[in-house]
Amino acid sequence: MPVREILRIGDPRLREVSQEVRKFDTPELHCLIGDMFDTMEAADGAGLAAPQMGVLQRVMVFGVDVNPRYPDAESVPMTVLINPEFTIVGDESEGGWEGCLSVPGMRGYVQRHSQIQYRGYDQFGASIVRDAAGFHATVFQHEFDHLDGILYPDRIVDASKFGFIEELAASGEIPLVQDV
Ligand code: NI
Repeated sequence: MPVREILRIGDPRLREVSQEVRKFDTPELHCLIGDMFDTMEAADGAGLAAPQMGVLQRVMVFGVDVNPRYPDAESVPMTVLINPEFTIVGDESEGGWEGCLSVPGMRGYVQRHSQIQYRGYDQFGASIVRDAAGFHATVFQHEFDHLDGILYPDRIVDASKFGFIEELAASGEIPLVQDV
């Protein structure tokens, strides 16, 4: 399956609200998801949303295997999630450095809900319900935002905690994180 171009911030398609998927288990949907995984892996990302490839449908993929380049990263199950929704569990939030394949070379400090329960469907239309916390919950919330045209820089509270990876790393500011 081909690796597709990832749109970058500034492209108006990243600001659109994506449409729900109506038909599951179609050749077009399987092709899209295959391309999304290939594109995510080629870019060494932990997640990707369909609008990042210019496809304005409510589809996301994410997942992190144990990766020697990111020894401290929490693993996240390889997941296809279509028409997702979520509820917040508890009232805790936590801050973390995020990167995005559509904002290459940069990192920003963002607050997310610590615990959530998300729901959705896989590519065959089977229901998925899962509790998530930590990086798993962060990745979901980041990808969910893409489906509503929101990019992580929109959620940065302190603009001084946003910058290029090299500069932030040189000041000892950031841990290694994968783009999503
Ligand atoms: Ni992203």
